[in-house]
Amino acid sequence: MRIEFVPADAAPGAGAAIAVLAHEGGALSAEAQALDAATGGALARAIAAGRFTGAKGQSIELLAPAGLDAARVLVVGAGKAGEDAQGVENAAASAYRAVQASGVKELLIRFPAEPAHAALGVRLGSYRFDRYRTTEKADKKPSVETVRIAAADVGAAQAAYEPLSAVADGVTFTRDLVSEPANILYPAEFARRVKELERLGLTVEVLGEKEMTDLGMGSLLGVGQGSVRDSQLVIIQWKGAADPSAQPIAFVGKGVCFDSGGISIKPADGMEDMKWDMGGAGAVCGLMVALATRKAKANVVGILGLVENMPDGAAQRPGDVVTSMSGQTIEVINTDAEGRLVLADALWYCQDRFKPKFMVDLATLTGAIIISLGNDYAGCFSNNDELANNLLAASQAEGEPLWRMPLPDAYNKQIDSMIADVKNTGGRPGGSITAALFLQKFVNGLPWAHLDIASTAWKKPSTVPTIPDGATGYGVRLLNRMVSDNYEA
Ligand code: BES
Ligand code: MN
Ligand code: ZN
Repeated sequence: MRIEFVPADAAPGAGAAIAVLAHEGGALSAEAQALDAATGGALARAIAAGRFTGAKGQSIELLAPAGLDAARVLVVGAGKAGEDAQGVENAAASAYRAVQASGVKELLIRFPAEPAHAALGVRLGSYRFDRYRTTEKADKKPSVETVRIAAADVGAAQAAYEPLSAVADGVTFTRDLVSEPANILYPAEFARRVKELERLGLTVEVLGEKEMTDLGMGSLLGVGQGSVRDSQLVIIQWKGAADPSAQPIAFVGKGVCFDSGGISIKPADGMEDMKWDMGGAGAVCGLMVALATRKAKANVVGILGLVENMPDGAAQRPGDVVTSMSGQTIEVINTDAEGRLVLADALWYCQDRFKPKFMVDLATLTGAIIISLGNDYAGCFSNNDELANNLLAASQAEGEPLWRMPLPDAYNKQIDSMIADVKNTGGRPGGSITAALFLQKFVNGLPWAHLDIASTAWKKPSTVPTIPDGATGYGVRLLNRMVSDNYEA
C-alpha cells in the first residue's frame, strides 16, 4: 500500500473512497460540506437517517452517491477536538480500516488539518502480520493499494511526515518481532534480524554464551540454561550527536523469546502468549530503528537480553543460587520470575560499559501489573523524578498510557533471601513493585526507570484504531518522543 500527499483540490480516482470528518453534534467539516453540496445534500440526509453524532469511533458510509465520481463517501466522527494530531491519526486509521477489504483500491482522505499525522495513522492502523497466511480468501485480503491524503501544502506535509514515517517503521519492526512465533524467533534469529539493522547506520554487536560466561553473567545464563537455543546479548549503538563520544542514554529490553516458566512451569492455558515475552527487547529495537531512520541527534545505546526459558534436565531449579555480573548472589525461588534475572545482568553490563546519563528498561515483567493497572496502562518505576516526568510527558503526548508506581524501600524485605543476597520473588503482595525493587539492586545509583509493559505489549481485542489486534509496538512512540523532546541538541 502506497501513501501520497496530494493538493487539497485533487479529484478522486475512478472507484475511490473519500473520507471526511464530522464533529460531535453532527457538524460537517468544510470538506464534508463540499461533498454534501455536490451530492444534493446526501450526507446530511444520511446523517439524519441514523444515530451518527460525529462522536469519536463512529462512521457512516454512502455507496455510489449520485453527483460524485467517488464509489464511496465515508464520514468519520472526530469527536469534539478531533483535529489534534492523535484525533487525526485515529480518524485516518478508522477510515482506512472501514474500506480496507471493501474492494476499493484508492482511499482519498480529505481532513482539515494534520495530513502527516493522517499518514501515520494509516501506517499504524493498516498493520497486518501476514507471513504465515497461505489460504486466506481473496475477498478478505486488503484491497486498498493507494492512500492519497489531501494537504494544503504538499511539500510541508511530506516534510512533516518524514520523522513520523521513521516512527512507523520502528513500530512496524517491533510488531513484526513480537508477532513471530517462538519456533522462528529464538535468540540467535532475533540477533540476526537486529544485525541487519546495520544498514540504517546502527552498530550491532552480539555476545554469545561464551562471552557472557567470561563476563560473569550467571543470572542471565541461568535462565537460558534449560533451552537448546543459545542465549544472546545484543548491543545496538546509534551515534547521532555532534560529538560521537558524548555520554549516551540507554534502553534495555527483556527479550524472553519464549517463557514456559521453566521448571516452575506455567499452566497450558494461555501459555502461547509467552511468545511475546520479548516485547521489551522488541520495543528497544523499534526505537533504535526510528532514531536511526530519522537520524536523531543523540547518542543512544540499546541492550537486549535474549533467552528462552524452558524446562529440561539442564534447566535451573527452584532453590538454585546464581551469581550475577554485579557479584550479588540470587536465590531463584521461582524459575518463572526469569525476566528480572535477565535484566539484572543486562542492566549491570549497560552501566558498567557505557556509563550512560540514564537507563530505561522495558519488560513484560509481571502479570501483577495487569492486576494493578488493567490492560491500557504500563507501569513506570523510577529512582529519578526528572526522568519519570519526562517519560510521563512523552506518554501523554503520544497517547501511550503510563502510570507512575512506587518503589518503597520497606518492601525490600519481601525479597530478602535466607542464603543469598536477594531472592527473585517477593510473594503476591505488590508483585510488580518487588520485581522493580529487585531490578533496582542492579542499578548503581544512576537515573533509571523501569517500564513494566506486560499490560500493553499485546492487545486482543484492541480498542484503538491505530493498533490492530495483537502486537502493539507499545513504547516505540513514547521513547522516541522522550528522546526528541529532551535529549537532542
Ligand atoms: N512473562 C511473565 C509476565 C507476564 C504475564 C507477561 C502475563 C505478560 C503477560 C513473567 O516472566 C512471569 O512469569 N512473571 C510471574 C512472576 C512470579 C512468578 C513472581 C508472574 O507474573 O506471575
Ligand atoms: Mn516468567
Ligand atoms: Zn517472562
